[in-house]
Amino acid sequence: MDRFQKEITVSKAILERRSIRRFKPDRLTKEQITYLLNLACAAPSAKNSQPWRFVVVMDEQERERICDAMEQGLKRFDGRVGSAWHSLSIMRQAPVNIFIFASGIRDIRLERTILDTVNDMACAQSIGACIENMLLAATGIGLGSLWICDIFYAYEELMQYFGKDETLVAAVSLGIPDEAPGMRPRKPLEEIVEWR
Ligand SMILES: Cc1cc2nc3c(=O)[nH]c(=O)nc-3n(C[C@H](O)[C@H](O)[C@H](O)COP(=O)(O)O)c2cc1C
Repeated sequence: MDRFQKEITVSKAILERRSIRRFKPDRLTKEQITYLLNLACAAPSAKNSQPWRFVVVMDEQERERICDAMEQGLKRFDGRVGSAWHSLSIMRQAPVNIFIFASGIRDIRLERTILDTVNDMACAQSIGACIENMLLAATGIGLGSLWICDIFYAYEELMQYFGKDETLVAAVSLGIPDEAPGMRPRKPLEEIVEWR
């Protein structure tokens, strides 16, 4: 693990992370991805449930098959999901895509009770913490990342393709950045914080 560690503070990683939408073609190593996954799994989770599950796609042909399945799903939306097509093109050129599944979240197509929703919210927050850890760890070792929820537009097709019991909740594309965007605008605290 230490092999990749650089002297980068947490606040520096937080401030330097960007959504990267253009990657160099260089392949990443299994070791690098294992490093990221270990840090991702160090995230807190509701009742320490650790609901995250990962499918790491590094093989080009497998990536194409998955992206083809996503394309089928996007076609159902008839041009109304422009940003999702962009996400798909990024996934097609990313050397690594990690698909994140949650073992505790009900399939999004199912009805929910309030208690199910409470459980799913806690589970989703746990997964969010895990993904953010992964992105910050990637920044720390000079990798670019993109958190992708546009996969939901092809939920049927992707769930069918993966054939897993767990619920697909996100994808993360990873690679060496081929762009260096500045920080995207943030709302000022005055607009979003109420002090009491
Ligand atoms: C839950 C979540 C889902 C996202 N889904 C997508 C996506 O499907 N496609 C995409 O290009 N960016 C996606 N993003 C990236 C956001 O657009 C990005 O974080 C935001 O514009 C701020 O830019 P920054 O990450 O560079 O700070 C997602 C981010 C989050 C947290």
